[in-house]
Amino acid sequence: MPVVSCQKQGRTDYSIALEFGNGGKTGKMVGTMEPVRGLDGLTSEELRASRQGWWDEFFTRFLLSWIPEETHSLIDVGCGLATAAHALLPCLRGGVYVGIDADESRLREAERLCAGTAYAERVRFQQGRAEQLPCPDSAADLVLSSMILQHVMDVPAALSEIKRVLRPGGRFVAVEPDNLSNQFYFDGSLQQVNAAFRDLFAAHRIARRPADTAIGPAVPGALEKAGFTVIDCRPYALGRVSRLLASEFFDRARRVAAIASSAAGLPADNPALEGCLATITRVAVALGSETVGYGCHLVPVFVSVAEKKP
Ligand SMILES: C[S@@+](CC[C@H](N)C(=O)[O-])C[C@H]1O[C@@H](n2cnc3c(N)ncnc32)[C@H](O)[C@@H]1O
Repeated sequence: MPVVSCQKQGRTDYSIALEFGNGGKTGKMVGTMEPVRGLDGLTSEELRASRQGWWDEFFTRFLLSWIPEETHSLIDVGCGLATAAHALLPCLRGGVYVGIDADESRLREAERLCAGTAYAERVRFQQGRAEQLPCPDSAADLVLSSMILQHVMDVPAALSEIKRVLRPGGRFVAVEPDNLSNQFYFDGSLQQVNAAFRDLFAAHRIARRPADTAIGPAVPGALEKAGFTVIDCRPYALGRVSRLLASEFFDRARRVAAIASSAAGLPADNPALEGCLATITRVAVALGSETVGYGCHLVPVFVSVAEKKP
């Protein structure tokens, strides 16, 4: 009878030991198991760390400026870990939040994170796809989608469903990135690093097709085509500037590169990732690991606001 032990090693890796006894012979196999990646190509831990990195009170206030105070029912399509519920519900008194995601395990984790909060009673989760929402017609005053249309295979179908579940005059707020334009700064622009990341994110975008990971600037046009009235679309820069060691900054950049590559299912030795890591190392060596400076990883998102015609 095999004995299996599974140990967490570091942030995302697991080691598995398999021991067996067979006719007096025993053996041991040890290997590593890749963490489970969701439909967005991320592990839940990567998603959580990413949101902790940029979803701050400024972004919440920016979103709230597009959410009418009288919003009572809010549907968050592709809610992930329901970061939006934690950010928005304390400010939307009486608002009821329905988080919908295709990934059952994300929903379970989102439920666990909401349990025991002051607004837990106002939160509900349902499994479902954006292209076929498990909600009745005209159910919501507001639909939010944050970083999800970039993963959807059939965006017109998703927009048509979002329009169906909105009440007439209801509002849709979509936050979607242009992942081709990630920018890295360390006491100035890092042109070579940015060019290398552009190649990597271009490979990432091709591998994720038919979804479009740079969909942000195309959303207002798609909304118009779907019959919405577009009210506004504003770019917003996600990211924080922090003072840190160059070695720490470039380690983070390497992690971003590795995650982008794995999230797209690219092989570990793909040229775009190898080129990006080599460029990061070259620039890091030139700067010196002990250098302290102001670093930032910036991702532009487009926040599109539209209404369903009354
Ligand atoms: C990058 S995460 C964003 C989560 C959350 N909206 C946020 O901003 O923190 C994308 C989420 O969309 C979900 N997703 C991807 N494709 C979907 C689809 N077609 N229908 C519903 N959910 C989907 C994934 O499971 C994932 O949880």
